[in-house]
Amino acid sequence: MNKILTMIEDELKKAFLACGYEERFAKAVLSNRPDLCEYQCNGAMAAAKTYKKKPIEIADQVVRKLKNSAMFSMCDAVMPGFINLKLEGGFVADYMNKMAADERLGLERQKSPKTIIVDYGGANVAKPLHVGHLRSAVIGESIKRMGRALGHHMIGDVHLGDWGLQMGLIIEELRDRKPDLPYFDQSFTGNYPDEPPFTIGELEDIYPAASKKAKFKAEEGRREGMDEEAIAREEEKSRAFAERAHLATRKLQEGYAPYTAIWNHIMKVSKADLKKNYGNLKVSFDLWKGESDAQKYIPGLIEDLIRQDLAYESQGALVVDIGEPGDSKELPPCIVRKSDGAALYATSDLGTILEREQDLHPDAYVYIADKRQELHFTQVFRVAKKAGFVANDMPMSFLGFGTMNGKDGKPFKTRDGGVMRLEQLIADINEAGYQRIMENRTAGEEEARKTAEMVGLAALKYGDLSNQAAKDYIFDLDRFVSFEGNTGPYILYTIVRIKSILNKYQEQKGNVENLTILPGASEGEKALMLELARYHEVMEGAFAEMAPHKLCQYIYDLSNDFNRFYHDSKILAEEDWQKQKSWIGLITLTKDVLEACIEVLGFDAPDRM
Ligand code: ARG
Repeated sequence: MNKILTMIEDELKKAFLACGYEERFAKAVLSNRPDLCEYQCNGAMAAAKTYKKKPIEIADQVVRKLKNSAMFSMCDAVMPGFINLKLEGGFVADYMNKMAADERLGLERQKSPKTIIVDYGGANVAKPLHVGHLRSAVIGESIKRMGRALGHHMIGDVHLGDWGLQMGLIIEELRDRKPDLPYFDQSFTGNYPDEPPFTIGELEDIYPAASKKAKFKAEEGRREGMDEEAIAREEEKSRAFAERAHLATRKLQEGYAPYTAIWNHIMKVSKADLKKNYGNLKVSFDLWKGESDAQKYIPGLIEDLIRQDLAYESQGALVVDIGEPGDSKELPPCIVRKSDGAALYATSDLGTILEREQDLHPDAYVYIADKRQELHFTQVFRVAKKAGFVANDMPMSFLGFGTMNGKDGKPFKTRDGGVMRLEQLIADINEAGYQRIMENRTAGEEEARKTAEMVGLAALKYGDLSNQAAKDYIFDLDRFVSFEGNTGPYILYTIVRIKSILNKYQEQKGNVENLTILPGASEGEKALMLELARYHEVMEGAFAEMAPHKLCQYIYDLSNDFNRFYHDSKILAEEDWQKQKSWIGLITLTKDVLEACIEVLGFDAPDRM
């Protein structure tokens, strides 16, 4: 079904044309003076220049034509040439009924759906998920769901970091801990065990331990009171360990069978754990690909870059220039091969693009990562286009997000200053949600725990998504779980309130389906309707701009409009049964729109809270 704005514009176009003006001037926007009108058209101002007339003259003419339109209850030409519009109650009610009758609530299907890859999550295998990965997962999931709601073919890929030095570190740490494993016995000829040589708990311990071992810092030793001789010994040990890890990484990358066997175990154990963690966040991926999958494309792509004369040697490394005429500052070339022959992060991303082109034929790419990776993505996109790995006009966007800070304004840390694990963060927020729910004391223990998880997830995701992605934001647990203000739980609370009214109505009167919505009697009721009518346009706009915060703002406004209406109208006590039925229809639609939006944002509402 058409967007309400489109319908208004179509009506305006007819009037502009009838007056002899081009229809491109017939643009409608939401009013910025809600005290005066609901929508407005500023096109007479622009048309005035073209037709060398006074804007008000044009506005007057157009308004005269609009007078007999059934769509408007008011159309005024006001100085210097605005056209102020109010919609006819019957027209708006009709629009509500059409939305309510449509299973997609009026969202149009795409005429030409696009295949769009969303590269998000980006967890690094065997390293613990920390809050830095939270934003990518939460934002990416909502972008993917928005596109899907609009009918695009969205493919979410987690793009694991699974091919780096962490693998060598784990292999060597494992050797130190369990030297008798067959992977370290060069004379072993049998099949390697199916059982992984570690549990997820051990694996989570192995990586940080190994990473620390490879990075012994002299100052730390001094702080701990070590003498210089001991420090020198530790430094030497650390250097040797790091070298072993590099070598093991290299051997793994060359396909050395015992290490490949360990790698497979790491992948299996780690992926299962990641799936669980992402699952708790209601984040799921269509593809579980990683940097390792890109490796087989790398030799060919390097050859191709050389053959096309794009890659050249610079200080032993192989680089590709990416500068373009319009650049405001000089951008460094993209390094595609280090002087020691190793491939890099950028090379993996280029290989991945080749793989995606070959297997998925996407129409567009979206990457979601920390905004500090912006240069990396600029380099990758430009090389991919220059080399013809993708079409020159391929839409490739990078959505870079800011840092999640603590209340002190510094990157979020645990109380003792360590990196906060995602699992811990979720546990904390669920506990806060639980405490908040227990203040109301309506639920039993089990239900309260379940509800707390839903409230916690809403608090966490809405707290993140309601900010413009590129900005840093402050993680404020108390504010995020509050039932009042611009928070996830406030939205849930609104939905729960509607559900409870609907339940009571159903108990008293029965049927809540197919109720005809009548023209709004009060201003508040009409305001709620007009807000509902914006759903389609907001969803499209938020997706086009990759701005989930716009969807958050919308459901916050919608919730406020509903709550205002709720306070002004005694829905359950209303005696005019036709009016009451219409209200029940209207709040059902409100609930459906709110629920569709939070589904897209990636959280759910409980039945009670
Ligand atoms: N694994 C990376 C990190 O933790 C993020 C991956 C982002 N996606 C990509 N295609 N490079 O920083």
